[in-house]
Amino acid sequence: MHLAAHFPGVNNTTVWADPRSASQIDFASFRALAETAERGTFDFFFLAEGLRLREVKGLIHDLDVVGRPESITVLSALAGVTTHLGLAATVNATFNEPYELARRFASLDHLSGGRAAWNVVTSSDAFTGENFRRGGYLDHADRYRRAQEFVSTSRELWDSWTDGDVIADQRTGHFSRAGAGSFAHHGPQFDITGAFGIPRSPQGQPVVIQAGDSAEGRDFAAAAADVIFTRHGTLEAGQAFYADVKGRLAAHGRTPDSLKIMPGVTVVVADTDAEAEEKAAFIRSQQVSGATAIALSELLWGIDLTDRDPDGPLPDEDPVVGSGVVRGRVGFTDPVATAAQWRAAAAENGWSLRETVVAQQGRQSFIGSPETVATQLDEFVQADAADGYILVPHLTPGGLDDVVDRVVPILRERGVFRTEYPGTTLRDHLGLDRPSVSASGAA
Ligand SMILES: Cc1cc2nc3c(=O)[nH]c(=O)nc-3n(C[C@H](O)[C@H](O)[C@H](O)COP(=O)(O)O)c2cc1C
Repeated sequence: MHLAAHFPGVNNTTVWADPRSASQIDFASFRALAETAERGTFDFFFLAEGLRLREVKGLIHDLDVVGRPESITVLSALAGVTTHLGLAATVNATFNEPYELARRFASLDHLSGGRAAWNVVTSSDAFTGENFRRGGYLDHADRYRRAQEFVSTSRELWDSWTDGDVIADQRTGHFSRAGAGSFAHHGPQFDITGAFGIPRSPQGQPVVIQAGDSAEGRDFAAAAADVIFTRHGTLEAGQAFYADVKGRLAAHGRTPDSLKIMPGVTVVVADTDAEAEEKAAFIRSQQVSGATAIALSELLWGIDLTDRDPDGPLPDEDPVVGSGVVRGRVGFTDPVATAAQWRAAAAENGWSLRETVVAQQGRQSFIGSPETVATQLDEFVQADAADGYILVPHLTPGGLDDVVDRVVPILRERGVFRTEYPGTTLRDHLGLDRPSVSASGAA
């Protein structure tokens, strides 16, 4: 089983009003969670990215944590205080350039001794794009076309140096092989020729993670990713997603093992199952305040619901698609169908709007005693619903202490999770081959 730690971010999973919660921006918080993850021999530490603060009805959405530092900068600092933990940064392929980003990830891979990973996202809206675009905003398919060529171009750049290209012969005075780093990429998205400035990094190529869910996103992952970060966390949805994505690999000449599927999940642990359920219910009530229930409902309905009672019924209106009431947040694929599902669930269970929002919050939770949680985590992996998990804590920075101190030892005892790191690079932890230069087709 593979495990990763998600640093709490700008969403309502994070209960920042809890007295135990610390800064989301101080280095001490990043360091504390990273050290916990490394103590737990986790595969990697994961940072999400938001390139524009979310807005609801034209105002910054400050019910959640607001503002976070740039990921690669944070991970570079963490590289100095950790030794084995993988370091994964979410960075957008829509608003960057391959040369610059490939350089930054190669640098992180060198600095960390082979622990860098790039979570390639495409961003979900033109609202974010306003911060960057020089002209029009790319539509969904074009963003994936760009992302795919962005990743393959980055691989060409990483492969432009082979392992033997740094000669550093003090006797002859030659430092590198003639022509090392030269590249020429001519494609519809990028047409670049030059010389890459960074010798081949310890992993050859940093690990590539993907986090989009559409058919294009899944194809992109099947073609280009080593890991998928997914929201499909329930057993049935997880199995369907797992089968779908692994089934797409053969067309790209890849084996099922070469792509790890890791849903984002939350874990609540207590001495007994009953206590854990009680604790989880309390956490959910903190995560979804009345105001948050209204804001999340506005995301679905696309209308101003300020005057509604969160403890009252669901809105009668049909959702308005693309209204812009909520901006900068990934919306619902089919709001009309989702609203119908919410209404049916509320009617069946007698739920208020807030109770419905609590129940419909997407993320899978594993709740129970340490034994129960260990069993559930393992069952999903055995049932081909996941290869592991990206654990999303609700507190910064102590939110994974219980998992590492109480659940990981049981997983180890049962022989389903490592007791020590198998090697020094993230590829070693994930069981992924180090790409050879010729394997990816570069010069
Ligand atoms: C689990 C998950 C996590 C994501 N995390 C981020 C993120 O941190 N930053 C970001 O800009 N987009 C993030 N995205 C958005 C995706 O990159 C993508 O732009 C979006 O999901 C639309 O693509 P799709 O239609 O293929 O899902 C995430 C998506 C998923 C499914």
